[in-house]
Order: sequence, then structure tokens, then C-alpha cells
Amino acid sequence: MNTVTLIPGDGIGPEVSSAVVEVLKAAGVNIEWEKINGGEDAYKATGAFIPEALLESISTNRIAFKGPITTPIGKGFKSINVTLRQKYNTYANVRPVKSFPGLNTPFKNVDLVIVRENTEDLYAGLEHMVTEGVAESIKIITEKASLRIGEFAFQYAKDNNRKKVTAVHKANIMKISDGLFLDCIRRVAAKYPEIAYEEVIVDNMCMQLVMYPEKYDVLVLPNLYGDIVSDLAAGLVGGLGLVPGANIGDDIAIFEAVHGSAPDIAGKNLANPTACILSAAMLLDYIKQKEAAENIRQAVFSVIKEGKYLTRDLGGTATTEAYTRAVCDYLSK
Ligand code: NAI
Repeated sequence: MNTVTLIPGDGIGPEVSSAVVEVLKAAGVNIEWEKINGGEDAYKATGAFIPEALLESISTNRIAFKGPITTPIGKGFKSINVTLRQKYNTYANVRPVKSFPGLNTPFKNVDLVIVRENTEDLYAGLEHMVTEGVAESIKIITEKASLRIGEFAFQYAKDNNRKKVTAVHKANIMKISDGLFLDCIRRVAAKYPEIAYEEVIVDNMCMQLVMYPEKYDVLVLPNLYGDIVSDLAAGLVGGLGLVPGANIGDDIAIFEAVHGSAPDIAGKNLANPTACILSAAMLLDYIKQKEAAENIRQAVFSVIKEGKYLTRDLGGTATTEAYTRAVCDYLSK
């Protein structure tokens, strides 16, 4: 039996995390959850945003499921999400974005995977005021991290029968930093001749994605572009409530949705737990419980296709709980 650290998170976090626990139970999954919170709620309860017990739990279990955690804007403490990714060196952020049959979206055939570098770039947190009225934020790109994420993207493509990797960059302007990223990805690409390789500048990539998303397969991006393009891609398939993610390191992984804590709908039983449920399915793939993972994906896709229990973000009226029950009922059939 695997023990997995469960971080419920802030805002809608506790609601969507409960949905995950219920769905995995209905799927008959053999997991023991070790529930320890981090974030604002943890701070109120323990005086620490990342309690020592949470760090110990992740270090021991090596696998965690994390609900979204609020980060104050323009002030306050450093993002706990970024801190955990850097601390545990979960260098690859993997986000599969796939169309849901039955949903009324402009595109029916999106099937791409975003592989985002997760440890450096402008998220290194190295910023300061140079002088009054002048702020500086330092973008760190290293050969080591760029080769590592390139290797991850191509190996992922190979293992998952994907045909093409697209490197996304802005090396026309940031010739040295994005130039190094691109050079590293090219070096990795040369080792995988069976996988097609192309490069697209990030602004053009945004336009291409909202016009021809079906042309893309695996995207590999530095941290900041990966963050932005992930939300854009979520919009192509029905929104942030749907897209799962995983932060993967060499022997540790933290699974979480792309979306944040959605304070505007928190505590109202309105959140769509699909993204978190599908993130948990990625967790099951990771611990080799592939059949349960597939059953859960099938249940989610079937309930959404049927359209009877859609949450408000998808145009329906079902609560978080009603939708979760429908997924559990499908699994118990
Ligand atoms: P957000 O993703 O929380 O929300 C953006 C919009 O999408 C909102 O209108 C929200 O209601 C909607 N939405 C998001 N998830 C949804 C779901 N599951 N079901 C239905 N609607 C959903 O992004 P926002 O507002 O920019 O950030 C809020 C907070 O979350 C901030 O403190 C931010 O730092 C944090 N955040 C945390 C992340 C994490 O823990 N990995 C990732 C992104 C943001």
C-alpha cells in the first residue's frame, strides 16, 4: 500500500481535494492518505505556511497530492507552490490538455502535453529594487536544467507514442538566456531522430494555439512561458477546472491541477474537481495503478459527455458534490 501526502490547500482546495479522496475510494484504490495542510489555512492553524510535519511527510512518502494554495499578489510571502517545486527539485511540470467529447468548445481535437521547466527562469525569485522607481528581476536559465527538461520532454514523447516536440522560446530577444535554453533542447532533439522537432517563438505560439491547436503534440517551455501557455491551453478545452498536472523529479512527485485557489467561488460548492481528479489519475499512473487510473479517466469523460451533471464553469448547475457523486456512481456500476 502506498502512503501519499495530501495537502488540501486554500480556497476551493479542501472541496476539490475531498472529491479526489472520494473518487479514489470509489475506484477501489489502495492508498493511505497522510493529510497535512500547507498555505494560508496551515498558517492560521500552526503559525507556519509550510509546517515541518508537511516537509517530513513529503520527504518520507515521496508522493503528494496538492490542492491549490493562495499566494498574495505584489507583497507577502514567497509562493509555497514554487517553494515546494524548488525544494524537492520536481523539475518537470507535465500538463496534458485534451478535448472532452460532449463539451461545447471551439476545438474538438486538442491533444497536447505541456512540459514546463519548473525550477528556474524568472521564478528563481531573485528580484530587488535597484534604486527608487527601478525594479530588477533576474531570469536564470542553466544548461543543466534546460538539458534535463529537454531530455524529459523527448523521453516522455517516446514513452507515450507522441510524434513531435515543439520548443517554445523568445530567443530572438533574449538571445543569451532563451538562446541557451534553445541550444540545449536542440542538442537533446538530435538524440531522438524518430521524433519530429520544431521551434516556435512564444508570441506566435499563443496565436497558433488559439487557431490551430490540433497541430501541436508535446510542448517544452521555460518556466514563465509554460505557466502562461498552460492557462491558455486550458481555455481551449473548457477551462481551468479541467486540466491536470504533475510536478515530477527524479524520485519524487507532487500532483496538482493547473488552476489556483479560485477565491471567487471558494466554499460555495461550485468548483469543478475534474482537474484535481485527473491529477490524481496521473498519480495512479505514476505508482503503476494504471487500471484504476484509466477507470477514473473513463468515468470523468463519460459523466462530462453525458452532460447531466456539469458544474457551473461548464455551463451546468451541478454542485461539486453532485458531480463527484456522479463520477463515483459511474465507478461503482
Ligand atoms: P485561479 O486559477 O484560482 O482562478 C482563475 C479563474 O478560474 C477564476 O474565475 C476561478 O473561479 C476559475 N477556476 C479556477 N479553478 C476552477 C475550478 N476548479 N472550477 C471552476 N472554476 C475554476 O487563478 P487566480 O484567480 O489567478 O489565482 C487565485 C490564487 O491561486 C492566487 O493566490 C494564486 O497565486 C493561486 N494559484 C495557485 C496555484 C497552485 O496552487 N498551483 C496555481 C495558480 C494560482
